[in-house]
Amino acid sequence: MVELNGNSVPASDSHAGKQVDEIAVSPTAPDQVANLAKSIGSLSKAFTAGEAGARLQLLEAADSLLSALETPRETILRYCWRNPTAFAAIETGINLGIFRHLSSHDRPVPITELATATGADILTLTTTERIMKHLNAVHAVTETGRDEYTSNNFTRTVANTRYADAFPTIAGTTSPAIAAIPAFLRQTHYQNPTNGLASPFQQGFHTKDSFFEFLARDPILSAQFNNLMSVYHQGRASWMDPGFYPVDRLLTPTPTDTDPNILLVDVGGGKGHDLNEFRTKWPAARGRLILQDQPAVLAEATGLHESIERMPHDFFTEQPCKGSRAYFLHSVLHDWPDDTCLKILAPLRAAMTPGYSRLLINENVIPDRGAHWQATGLDWVMMGDFAGAERTEAQWRGLLSRAGFRILKIWVGDAWSESLIECEVDA
Ligand SMILES: C[S@@+](CC[C@H](N)C(=O)[O-])C[C@H]1O[C@@H](n2cnc3c(N)ncnc32)[C@H](O)[C@@H]1O
Repeated sequence: MVELNGNSVPASDSHAGKQVDEIAVSPTAPDQVANLAKSIGSLSKAFTAGEAGARLQLLEAADSLLSALETPRETILRYCWRNPTAFAAIETGINLGIFRHLSSHDRPVPITELATATGADILTLTTTERIMKHLNAVHAVTETGRDEYTSNNFTRTVANTRYADAFPTIAGTTSPAIAAIPAFLRQTHYQNPTNGLASPFQQGFHTKDSFFEFLARDPILSAQFNNLMSVYHQGRASWMDPGFYPVDRLLTPTPTDTDPNILLVDVGGGKGHDLNEFRTKWPAARGRLILQDQPAVLAEATGLHESIERMPHDFFTEQPCKGSRAYFLHSVLHDWPDDTCLKILAPLRAAMTPGYSRLLINENVIPDRGAHWQATGLDWVMMGDFAGAERTEAQWRGLLSRAGFRILKIWVGDAWSESLIECEVDA
């Protein structure tokens, strides 16, 4: 096998007659700039007029314009030091309560006040200044004058623990695993990782534990992870909204007294945010709603609607809810390689009533072309933390067919949202 690294492949100093130093400091795609600017003009009007979908299209166009206009040299700097240091500065700001303090005042706050209000014993003005200047440079706060700052909507969002917890969660469960991926892949000759106990995660964190074993040892990190999961899909199209999946088809026929009267079992459902959303959006739906997860996770499901039942359950064991109308798996299978997914799916299949029960899988289906970075980036997170994956349609079809399921339909909301894969037992 050819080792694709800088040592064995000679460096190229020119391309199509241009020296690399010239390429590196010229815009990446100057020929696209005019067209992108034009579409941004018309999309801005659609956005201002409140047209559905215009914001996301405008955002995509703006992102493309940034990439086209930026020079490769600038792009290198963005990835190599803007993004990692922005993460570190934001996590520091969260630890110090800077976002909470700024958000609780409607006036500009001087750094002299921030340095004393943050609760840190010895936060010097110099440190505060360095933190605040970078937070402003990456738009996490807004500079209003020399050494004074105010909050913006990002500040206000990360002033809230449920959203802020994304940062310590990723620092504590993911960043070292991602950093370990290149060396891991090189050592394993670029084979697709398929063992959650020998993955970049174990290398990055110097542990023998699986991701969930590691998490279970640290109650603070677990709570932060569960918070991240509880807000992770906010603002995206939800399968239970009108125009996505016809929820009515689950409600007819209604669960009857001849079956356990269970409408929906959320397997590995975390703190129950999906069932809460379902109860709010479909208040008249008859049938029991059951939340299953590990006992420690269920203990954190404090805001659960009173009609939702908690049921501790290890999804590798026999499914106690038999013949339910639907079993729901949201962001569960992507945590596991195929062979382990088969072990999660087998007890579900055994519990399902053929021709009646449905399996609903709410996950990304990576498209054949033009996959979005949110999905491909998550794929790399899954590779690093679990030897798991975001799957393509062909991969989903292969996995579900091996598990004894027939896909009835893959329901798609929009390009930015997870799909709903509706299956039944393949008798
Ligand atoms: C990525 S989270 C998804 C949570 C939720 N479904 C969501 O979409 O927000 C995966 C969930 O699987 C749960 N889990 C992991 N191993 C499990 C097991 N053996 N049995 C039951 N749940 C498990 C975790 O506790 C976690 O809540």
